[in-house]
Amino acid sequence: MQDLFADQRRDIEPLGAGLVLLPGFADTAALLEALPNITSAAPFRQQQTPGGKTIAVSMTNCGALGWVSDRRGYRYQDTDPVSGRRWPPIPESWSALATHAAALAGCPDYTPNVCLVNRYLPGQRLSSHQDLDERDFSQPVVTVSSGLPATFLVHGETRGGKPHRLPLVDGDVLVMGGASRRHYHAVDRIAPDPTGRVPHRISLTFRAA
Ligand code: SIN
Ligand code: FE2
Repeated sequence: MQDLFADQRRDIEPLGAGLVLLPGFADTAALLEALPNITSAAPFRQQQTPGGKTIAVSMTNCGALGWVSDRRGYRYQDTDPVSGRRWPPIPESWSALATHAAALAGCPDYTPNVCLVNRYLPGQRLSSHQDLDERDFSQPVVTVSSGLPATFLVHGETRGGKPHRLPLVDGDVLVMGGASRRHYHAVDRIAPDPTGRVPHRISLTFRAA
């Protein structure tokens, strides 16, 4: 039973309360069985920043809303700008996992309406940013890691400076609640798999937008 994991929660508090790691909490092989349904309706794509740069990490969404970036800015919208259609729904198994993880981390009644799915190829990284496009910062961001390992960088209240480095491996679930919810964070450059067998890292990042 997943409640066994309640004892394995690790509070990561280098810079403020509310950042909780649930090591190995997610069965990603089972979860990702639902991914092809999503990407056939809403394929991974590289988005542009408002300044016109290409975001290296490929993204797609499922849920009532999806996170979109282009020359007009960063925002959530209820349709996929590529297809003009509504985003596919969040699979039931995904939202159940996010709600359970948030509860274990001390955030009850979490009901995300967005899952931003990020795909990182080896060599790609996500630069330091805050997740500020959501309406309610009392709701955490919950991230499931799968595939290649990553180092999550927690910069805290300023964009730069020496970050706390948090290794994330397949199955880890990170809950950014409390003060950590507004912290600057990044994902360091992804290293290739020495065996060549794991092609990428995919993260599922749940939000209540
Ligand atoms: C994000 O910071 O929004 C994504 C983090 C991740 O892909 O792990
Ligand atoms: Fe983020």
